[in-house]
Amino acid sequence: MRRTKVAELLRMDPNDQELVVMGWVRAFRNNRFIALNDGSSISNIQLVIDPELTSEEQLRRVTVGASVRASGRLVASSGSGQRVELEVAGWEILGDCDASAYPLQPKKHSLEFLRQIAHLRFRTNTFSAISRIRHSLAFAIHAFFHQRGFYYLNAPIITGSDAEGAGEMFQVTTLDLDRVPRTENGNVNYEKDFFGRRTHLTVSGQLEAELAATALGQVYTFGPTFRAENSNTPRHLAEFWMIEPEVAFADLNDNMDLAEDLLKSIIRTVMEQCQEDLDFLGRREAEEDKQKPMAERSEFPLEERLRFCLEHPFERLSYSEAIDILRNSSPNKKGKFQYPVDRWGVDLQSEHERYLVEKHFRKPVILTDYPKEIKAFYMRQNEDGRTVAAMDILFPGIGEIVGGSQREERYDVLLQRMQEMHIPVDEMYWYLDTRRFGTCPHAGFGLGFERLALFITGMTNVRDVIPFPRFPGNAEF
Ligand code: 4AD
Ligand code: MG
Repeated sequence: MRRTKVAELLRMDPNDQELVVMGWVRAFRNNRFIALNDGSSISNIQLVIDPELTSEEQLRRVTVGASVRASGRLVASSGSGQRVELEVAGWEILGDCDASAYPLQPKKHSLEFLRQIAHLRFRTNTFSAISRIRHSLAFAIHAFFHQRGFYYLNAPIITGSDAEGAGEMFQVTTLDLDRVPRTENGNVNYEKDFFGRRTHLTVSGQLEAELAATALGQVYTFGPTFRAENSNTPRHLAEFWMIEPEVAFADLNDNMDLAEDLLKSIIRTVMEQCQEDLDFLGRREAEEDKQKPMAERSEFPLEERLRFCLEHPFERLSYSEAIDILRNSSPNKKGKFQYPVDRWGVDLQSEHERYLVEKHFRKPVILTDYPKEIKAFYMRQNEDGRTVAAMDILFPGIGEIVGGSQREERYDVLLQRMQEMHIPVDEMYWYLDTRRFGTCPHAGFGLGFERLALFITGMTNVRDVIPFPRFPGNAEF
């Protein structure tokens, strides 16, 4: 008989049909009730077994974590807490779970503890909810772009260019590090390396996306990116996923509109598709908050924060305007910022971004037109000669979630900027070629997938919204 998923069972009306269900035991009580979960839903199905028809051995083996196959009839539940339950006619243990060694028990485990057993944490309500939401998010992103006529581009993960300057890179090599081949003058001889040159893991698919966008019109990447910075923060991973749309014949305003539409569309879809999981995470957050000092609690419940994002236009202002606000802000005047804002030109820290979003505007903010010194070489220079057409989107509780810009499409201006910033122009001939052969205005941005997942799930550490986090000192599992 075909197995019915728990999610489906829970939606069905009681009927006398024989059904088969398979899953893992979440709880077993009174020698009678098994709460069974199969990953299709945050909720469990209650199996009611008949002690008369159950052997001593079966009772001993049905521990938390064991996998079970059961058949029976779906009936209206007489107990509170569930609408339907399975009146079991027959059942068997498919896989025992060594209870003396199993680290997961039906009680609360700390997130830090669960991170150490990331191979098992999918089995908790929190991580199964996050996993389902991550799936829906990814799907919603592909759907959004597909509906708008974007093409999904697979940018390379191993790259021969290290010019973007988005962060420190991981080197990729097959050279024997104990016996590195050298050239006559003592340098590493990369001609002997696998690709015949020095290669790294990509920090971004943007430059390749620009090549494709200037022929296909609108493309997006959605892939893993790697940064070897030693950033041990709750918002940084060494391996994270990024969504990078790139659009021909678009300027900075088009870019902001696209990013705002994308974020709102994703949030809306996930609120529709993952209601139960979001409810669970909202309740979880409220519970966690009770343990925290007032100042660290979330001001609004998760669902309200998500809805608020949908209902209000993001605030758009320039970096210069933001600097004025920050300079005159009370934390700045009282010396409360770790990095005081004392002049135009300073890079914004996450404490500044969060002040703007959480205290001043109290909604998502798009900052534009940053000083060119603190931004990448490819951003389009503004008329004022000192700023570029950049945009960063800042979110409550997160800080920067999106970074992007209109691109410098003027060959001479780009070339000059690359030289000023010591970007190897010869190596980057392919990038410059787009500006030589039918250049056009274009723009794009990068959305950090885990930062987005952080916002939507209400979790507070990016290591808890990716299945297997990579960060300095950790690449287990
Ligand atoms: O601002 P970033 O560095 O921009 C780029 O890489 C551009 N090439 C994007 C583009 O224009 N196509 O990164 C974009 C986003 C950030 O806003 C942030 O959400 C996320 O990627 N991000 C990280 N997420 C997790 N861990 C890290 N170490 C991250 N670094 C950036
Ligand atoms: Mg950035």
